[in-house]
Amino acid sequence: MSAGPGAVVGPDTRPRNPGGARSGLTGRLLTALALVLVTAGVTAWLVAGVVGPPIFHEHMLRSDAGGTGSAVDHTEEAFLTAGALSLLIALGTAALVALGVSLFLTRRIGASLAQLTSAARLVAGGRFEARVPDPGMGPELDELAGAFNHMAARLDESEGLRRRLLSDVAHELRTPVATLSAQLESIEDGIVPLDAGTVQVLRDQGARLTRLAEDLAAVTRAESGDVRLDRSRQDPADLVASAAAAIGPRAEAAGVAVVVDVAPALPALDVDPERLAQVLGNLLDNAVRHTPAGGTVRLRAGTAGGRVELTVGDTGEGIDAQHLPHVFERFYRAEDARDRHSGGSGIGLAITKALVEAHGGTVRAASEGRGSGSTFVVSLPAAPATPAR
Ligand SMILES: Nc1ncnc2c1ncn2[C@@H]1O[C@H](COP(=O)(O)OP(=O)(O)O)[C@@H](O)[C@H]1O
Ligand SMILES: [Mg+2]
Repeated sequence: MSAGPGAVVGPDTRPRNPGGARSGLTGRLLTALALVLVTAGVTAWLVAGVVGPPIFHEHMLRSDAGGTGSAVDHTEEAFLTAGALSLLIALGTAALVALGVSLFLTRRIGASLAQLTSAARLVAGGRFEARVPDPGMGPELDELAGAFNHMAARLDESEGLRRRLLSDVAHELRTPVATLSAQLESIEDGIVPLDAGTVQVLRDQGARLTRLAEDLAAVTRAESGDVRLDRSRQDPADLVASAAAAIGPRAEAAGVAVVVDVAPALPALDVDPERLAQVLGNLLDNAVRHTPAGGTVRLRAGTAGGRVELTVGDTGEGIDAQHLPHVFERFYRAEDARDRHSGGSGIGLAITKALVEAHGGTVRAASEGRGSGSTFVVSLPAAPATPAR
């Protein structure tokens, strides 16, 4: 890829075959205009040659009853000559204008189409940064160019995502595999004894690889919409209470308090309780991991705009505005070095988002920046008032 992002494509300057698109367009336009001219010419000729002279002749006889025959003849000849002359001049001028207009239009339209063609060729060749400038030729061509640019941008985006995914997977695999081989080599060379501690290190790396494989499978399944939801009517208060109970021991070990706050008379949800436990578990796990001892994690259930909102807020390290829009992307970690050691693979929030969306909900993150805590809000549609089953 040699051109920078957002490269703008110039007109295609490659020689075109004579029967190609451009001459085709000019030819068609000229033929259409010639047809109009010929029709107009024939009609005018008929009117001037067949209908006009008798009318003129009759008027001459009536107005100039006393005039000589030769004067009438002269006047009538003058009428015919003037008629023919004006017809010829008008048709000639119209033909010239038609030629000019079709050449002008063809050149403008042709240039825009040529830019589109060469940009399409670039995109087909894998250069997804190719864009076409606005043709400024009315809504139809502008829309075509806009749609093309949109398509190219989307392709560019998914190509970038694919490449990043591959390099992320490679990176995630490299660390545990390198640690495993180094450990095994040290054991072979007798540098490290094969005792319980060493076995634990080997086990940990194995577990990390297993978790990565599981996470990858889970996120792929969730994002391809291949999640089987075993939905039933659930009270948000119960979901929140069991999620809080599940995180309890880990929060206690980290010295983080967990506060549950449930609004009264919440509408029920029609959700898969296990998937929702996974969603809340991921959010609570993150909150506890990113909150220093002495902090608080707050789990709230409430309503907003007719939907049920489950909120996980913490008083922890917060998320920078620059990272906030990306935290739901696969493998995204705001704090690379530290989080790699704390064990997250950066897939949890991608799974969370996919699961929430499978339920017809949305999830968003908010933070005032580093040091001021983070809030994750899961918004879900309330179950219909009368139970479906
Ligand atoms: N409560 C939180 N406070 C601060 N940062 C967070 C919080 N939750 C998520 N993040 C940031 O978002 C990133 C992605 O989260 P996640 O997808 O769960 O990955 P992981 O937990 O495996 O690192 C985390 O690495 C972290 O940088
Ligand atoms: Mg996580």
